[in-house]
Amino acid sequence: MVALREDLRLALDRATFARELGLEPDPWQERLLRSTSDRVLLNCCRQSGKSTMSGLIALHRALYHPGSLILCLAPALRQSQELFGKVLTFYRDLGRPIPAHAERKLSLELENESRIVTLPGTDKTIRGFSGATLLIVDEAARVEDELYFAVRPMLAVSGGGLMMLSTPHGKRGVFYEEWTGGAGRGWERYEVKAEECPRITHKFLEEEREALPSWVYRQEYECSFEETEDQVFTYEMVEQAETSEVKPLFGAA
Ligand SMILES: Nc1ncnc2c1ncn2[C@@H]1O[C@H](COP(=O)(O)OP(=O)(O)OP(=O)(O)O)[C@@H](O)[C@H]1O
Ligand SMILES: [Mg+2]
Repeated sequence: MVALREDLRLALDRATFARELGLEPDPWQERLLRSTSDRVLLNCCRQSGKSTMSGLIALHRALYHPGSLILCLAPALRQSQELFGKVLTFYRDLGRPIPAHAERKLSLELENESRIVTLPGTDKTIRGFSGATLLIVDEAARVEDELYFAVRPMLAVSGGGLMMLSTPHGKRGVFYEEWTGGAGRGWERYEVKAEECPRITHKFLEEEREALPSWVYRQEYECSFEETEDQVFTYEMVEQAETSEVKPLFGAA
């Protein structure tokens, strides 16, 4: 009976679930774990714990919502595999509370009919999944737009949740568009800079600031969408060029 009550506590509260796994959530992590939003954007610095949190959320969903299909996507298989690796580690650390039908390198199928599946980062091979209850896109700023457009329909019928997590990577692509797309699109947004992360020391950040070009530092540690290195025109220049207020130099009068 005590075990059941304990289990209910874990089922109802993902922050308690994290603590059970030995992770004391940072304030933003606690907010995320308590959130009920099904559209989440995490714009977080390197090493802030975004993959860890999404792995935890994926496993929680699979254990406590029988029949879930959770898909993990990243720009390359190696990256989605890393996220899935966190899921497997948590599952094993918990002592496999629900036995597995199959525990593979790229997927976990539980006896409650939930599945967590790692998707490769190419458009051609991912089509075919439908009815996803949760889609997690890691390193989302580096995922090709076509890939993102190919996976979104997998949520159509199931009305599943979508989490996109990333460190910024230039002023382009779906993650940037969604992040800057105004408050109206239903996203719950989290921005986490390195100075807010208790595991990253001030000393380390000072060293990084010295060692890296300033735009790289801002991108990696301050959640900033920087111009990409090879861009000849800045984003603002292109925006300006598109307004009707700026008269063309040649051509139409
Ligand atoms: N609340 C926490 N308590 C203790 N350790 C944590 C916590 N959150 C994250 N970590 C640890 O911080 C490290 C980085 O976590 P993680 O890989 O999830 O970060 P990330 O934001 O995905 O990083 P990257 O940008 O490099 O992919 C891991 O070792 C993870 O276990
Ligand atoms: Mg990560």
